[in-house]
Amino acid sequence: MFTRRHIISTRDFTREEIDHILNRAEELEIYAGGVGKGAGRKSDLLEGKILANLFYEPSTRTRLSFEVAMKRLGGEVINVSSPETSSAAKGENLVDTIKVVSKYCDIIALRHPKEGASRMAASFSSVPIINAGDGAGQHPTQTLLDLYTIKKENLLDKLKIALIGDLKYGRTVHSLAYALSLYGAKLFFVSPEALNMPEEIKMDLKEAGADIFESTDIKEVIKDVNVLYLTRIQRERFPDQTEYNKVAGTYRITTELIRENEGVVIMHPLPKIDEIDAEVDQMENARYFTQAFYGIPVRMAVLSILLER
Ligand code: NCD
Repeated sequence: MFTRRHIISTRDFTREEIDHILNRAEELEIYAGGVGKGAGRKSDLLEGKILANLFYEPSTRTRLSFEVAMKRLGGEVINVSSPETSSAAKGENLVDTIKVVSKYCDIIALRHPKEGASRMAASFSSVPIINAGDGAGQHPTQTLLDLYTIKKENLLDKLKIALIGDLKYGRTVHSLAYALSLYGAKLFFVSPEALNMPEEIKMDLKEAGADIFESTDIKEVIKDVNVLYLTRIQRERFPDQTEYNKVAGTYRITTELIRENEGVVIMHPLPKIDEIDAEVDQMENARYFTQAFYGIPVRMAVLSILLER
């Protein structure tokens, strides 16, 4: 279905393709490590294959989980984890880097501050490119692990989700909103006016038949949803820091707020800054650390499908 294809945007997926990846993730989860039934098991599915992680922006979870996913499947990983230690610091452009690195490996995961960088890289690469985040653009593998988390909660077919925080610059919510429009989810966009979901994305979603409600206040929607998806205000994307200061700290999830909807599932792509009170981490509702773990089986699924022989 996907062998040797690039993964750039969730807009490129059909629902069947996403379901295929999520099903594969479920099959591979026993090799994902952690505690429980998968602990210690290893697969040789990707033996002899090399993943290049090219990360030109900070990352903890995405880079490490790509690396762990590859290693748990018997593959190997080479890394550029900061622009300062690569030839980018000498002025090499991304096109030249991609032309060379794609000859060193079988697949590339690329994170870059410029929107569109992965799409551009794909046209110069001789191996599949996985977009691991391109500026404020897209982050498709994050969406896949978000969907996997939602699926594990049995909510994928009856989802009412509030996407909260920085909907303007947040690539995770851009990717997620497109994918959710394939599942008939009811979408609640909650942000300060200055960080609304971009108009063109809303137009695309409406064209796809999505049911969208917008608000600036979590309290207005909390009783109507079964998932709260929090995001960090993306400070590094603001052209003007005084604008960031005006919206920093707008939302804060507290234990009292969650009691207004006892069963609500709380997700966050992480890192979280101050948008969730520390006590909420202890509540049954909090799923973000499990969600981060699912990055491993889901990225195993993506790598194995793209590299299928
Ligand atoms: C996100 C990202 O990089 O877009 N992090 C991640 O990959 N889990 C979210 C963020 O940085 O706020």
